[in-house]
Amino acid sequence: MSHMPARKLAASDILVSVRLATSGKKKVQEGEYRSALVDLCEAHKLNPFLTPAVAWQIPAHYFLNEHSAIEDILDYKRLVKCIDIGSILSGLEPRFGEQLSDELLARCRFYSPTQQMPIVNGKKTNDLLPARGALLSVLEDAVRAVFVRYLCEVSLADTVRHAGVELALRMWANAIAPGGEIGPHYHTRSWISAVYYPIADYRAVRGGLLVLGPMPFQMGHMPDLPQLHIEPAPGLIVVFPSYFGHRVLKTNQTRVSIAADLLPIAETVNWNTANEGADL
Ligand SMILES: [Fe+2]
Repeated sequence: MSHMPARKLAASDILVSVRLATSGKKKVQEGEYRSALVDLCEAHKLNPFLTPAVAWQIPAHYFLNEHSAIEDILDYKRLVKCIDIGSILSGLEPRFGEQLSDELLARCRFYSPTQQMPIVNGKKTNDLLPARGALLSVLEDAVRAVFVRYLCEVSLADTVRHAGVELALRMWANAIAPGGEIGPHYHTRSWISAVYYPIADYRAVRGGLLVLGPMPFQMGHMPDLPQLHIEPAPGLIVVFPSYFGHRVLKTNQTRVSIAADLLPIAETVNWNTANEGADL
């Protein structure tokens, strides 16, 4: 039996949910946590893809001292999956990751970070899909398969089906130089996120641990949030909900990762319009 609403996600749901989430965020910032949670939960019920509606519940619960509610939201055991690319694509060339890194570095332009992406001493590409190379499209297929498997395993496939939305994939690469790091952030416009580590040499990423849990600083000082540390390894794909805050600890060698976001494309126009100016 499913608890999901058996109706499609309507344009009006998107607009109303964004308004509610915006109001919820404002209330968190003003310290009206209880009232904020009402708005944020309603927003998420109307639109299960609206990541900020969940993300802002974390500081609300935190400052109400409701740590068990946070543990339900940040349920690492259930919601984080670590998948080896070799279990998705059989017969993958052992040097696939290394060759893919070379392809990326040769074919893609890396840009300095924007405000949304707090990279220190690192760069990122724009959306990788239009500039695809041969190995990149192999990775794209693998990432699509990983997301499909993930949605089934965490019982979210029905959410997509009931809402009647189509999902789009966005991928980009991050390259961090020695001494670099990525500060706490979450992927506001996405629904499910993943990161793939193409590197062949484990030692190359020592120090560049992925930490799930830390939320952006503007949500307030939350030192006791539960965290999950993940050591990058060649061929590893880590999948998690986009509302999970995360950071990359300082790395002592060049560290390349490929990030992917899965997001609904239904009602794209309304979605974008509704999001405009809201900056959730
Ligand atoms: Fe990220």
